[in-house]
This record gives sequence, C-alpha cells and structure tokens, in this order.
Amino acid sequence: MTGRAAELRRAGVDVVNLSVGEPDFPTPAAVQTAGIRAIVNNQTHYTAAEGLLELREAVCTKLARDNNLHYTPEEVLISNGGKYALYNLCQVLFQEGDEVILFTPYWVSYPDLVRVTGAEPVFVETDPGSQYEPDMEDLERKISSRTKGIIINSPTNPTGGVWRKEAIQQVLKLAVSRNILVISDECYEQFVYDAPFVSTALLTDSPEMVITVQSCSKTYAMTGWRIGYTVADAQIIAAMKKLQGHGASSPNAVGQYAAIEALTGDQSYIPELRKIFKHRRDLIVDLINAIEGLDCPTPAGAFYVYPDFSAFLGKLAAGKKLNTAGELALYLLESEGLATVPGESFGSGTHIRFSYTAGEADLIRGMDRLADGLAKLN
Ligand SMILES: Cc1ncc(COP(=O)(O)O)c(C=O)c1O
Repeated sequence: MTGRAAELRRAGVDVVNLSVGEPDFPTPAAVQTAGIRAIVNNQTHYTAAEGLLELREAVCTKLARDNNLHYTPEEVLISNGGKYALYNLCQVLFQEGDEVILFTPYWVSYPDLVRVTGAEPVFVETDPGSQYEPDMEDLERKISSRTKGIIINSPTNPTGGVWRKEAIQQVLKLAVSRNILVISDECYEQFVYDAPFVSTALLTDSPEMVITVQSCSKTYAMTGWRIGYTVADAQIIAAMKKLQGHGASSPNAVGQYAAIEALTGDQSYIPELRKIFKHRRDLIVDLINAIEGLDCPTPAGAFYVYPDFSAFLGKLAAGKKLNTAGELALYLLESEGLATVPGESFGSGTHIRFSYTAGEADLIRGMDRLADGLAKLN
C-alpha cells in the first residue's frame, strides 16, 4: 500500500497517507547531535556483538527510571531495531515442533518470525470491546505441551489496544504454571493515553519467565537509526549474542551512540508528545464514528485505530464488488487518494488500520475522503 501510495504521489496524485507506522516528528536534536559527534569522532567501527557497554548500561538506567525494572548489562542485548531483536530471539528459543501463541489481530511480522524457525504460530482470539484483551478460554484451549512461547504486544499494533494489568497477569499466571516463556514487545510503552504503562515483567513473581523487547524507534522517532534491545536472562542473551555476532557482527555503531543520548538525555518532551497523540486519537475516533456504518472503539494506546468495515464489504464501487478489506483499502487509495493498511496483514480481513502519525489537517482530510469514498458505494 505504501509503495502504491508513493507511485501515485510520483504521478502527481494528492495522497493522504495514514498507512505509516512511525512518528512524524524528527529525531530529537540532542540525539541527532550525538550521532553526528560519533561520526566526527570516528566512532564508526564494529562494536561488541552485544552492543556497547555504555548503551547496555543506559538501557539499565532507563528500565530502572521508567519501568522500575532492575537488570545488569549482561542481561541486555542491543540489536538493529526491535525487529531484529525479535528475529534473533525467536531463532534462539524456537524450533520445529514448537508452538508459539500470538494474539489476533497481531503485528504483521510475528507469524513469519515464528515460522522461519520451523515452529508454528497458534492464534488466540481477542475481544475488540475490551481493548483487544485475550479470550482467556481460547488461550487455555490453545496451549499445548508444544507451546514454548507467548508473545504479548500491549499497546498493540494494529489495534492500539492496551491490556489491563489483570489481563496480563492472567496470561502470566498461565504461562508460568506451564513453564512457557512470555515475550513482551513494549515498543509503544510511551504511547499510552488513559493510564500509566506497566511493564509485563513487573507483573509476575517470576520475572525470569519474561523477555522484554524494546525499541528506540517510536519513542525517539529513530526508526531509521535501527536500535532496539532485548532484556532477558543472561543465558538467553548469551545465545542471542552468538547468533548476532555471526548474523550482523554488531548493531549500527552511530545509532548506538545516538541511542545513549536518547535513553539518558532529556525526556521532558515525551509527555508533550503524548498529549498531541492523544488529541489526534480523539479526533480520528470522533471523525470515524461520525460516518454512518462505522463504529470505532477508542484504543488506549499506540498510534493506530482499527475500525471494522464489515458493513461495507460486498458493496459495489463503479460496478466492481469489494469483498475484502484489502479490496476496499485499494479502492480508497485509487479512488480517494487515502492510503491505509488493510487488516489482512494483521490476520483480520474485515478491518482497516489508520495511523494517526499525521497532523490534524491530514486526519480531517483523510476522514473526509473516507466518508466520500464509502458514500459512493452501493
Ligand atoms: C509491534 C511492533 N514491534 C516491533 C516493531 C519493530 O520496530 P523497530 O524494528 O523499528 O524497532 C514494530 C514496528 O513497527 C512494531 O509495530
């Protein structure tokens, strides 16, 4: 969808792009400066495979400051983004014959990150009416003797759902009682609007069963610097370090120096940023709910909304039937110049994801286009 939107833009079409999964603000100036300083100082060579000690210490400082979690640098591995951290982690934990629980709708990469190890993803239903918290009965049913991991992502991409502490605790209790590791992808921790964020590892008496995956991408608008990290038992980190050493040599050196500044420097802009995103969330939810036939729950976090378009599937656009969210999303792009991401990518064929990583004017223009496009269907 992003590729087609770019093509249309190149052809001079005015596209409102609400498909992007990254913040629209620049990397903070002090972080940029730290990166430039690293280049000028020739800090541009390989680093330790597990990442710079100074950055792993900075991660520990951040975890204690923001999450009340206490780890040592030996329990931290820096990677080229949260995505490579997850790839590496799945590789060392899972293999053929294993099953890994994912919650639907899931972030697009999880199933393939699991499958590429030979393991099988097993999908558990969630409740759209309760911030997409897990259906606990379905979870119990789906856990088997082959289940080796459960991946939690709250706040969630694509739904923006944020699970209550109690829901996470229920998952943890089940997991710990069956000796299943819980991977908690917390890359949207700073994008929680209605209650403070609580790290999964803080919600259990067995924190050694929780592996936290984090990223500088979203909080610090550093998607292109490619810095993420894993926090886990030192034995798991040691295995990941081996794989990373052969697969990537080391994480991006300049990105690591910039990330030290990101994690330990001035954090005061973050609450301000959160206010802006909360305002955008409220705006887009109101605009969507003003469109007849749409009912969008208010997500408590991340920067996505994920309304259900079932009421519009099967309708005709210029004589052509739109059967799936993918076809509807393509129609909205081609006919109205509105770029989104259809739910098929996330395991649900009736929903469309809209990112509010765009300014208010674009959100208003985008939702006008959505209303116009839907009104033309018959
Ligand atoms: C849920 C989730 N996890 C992980 C990532 C990976 O981010 P990065 O590799 O940029 O750290 C993303 C990026 O969109 C995401 O949405």
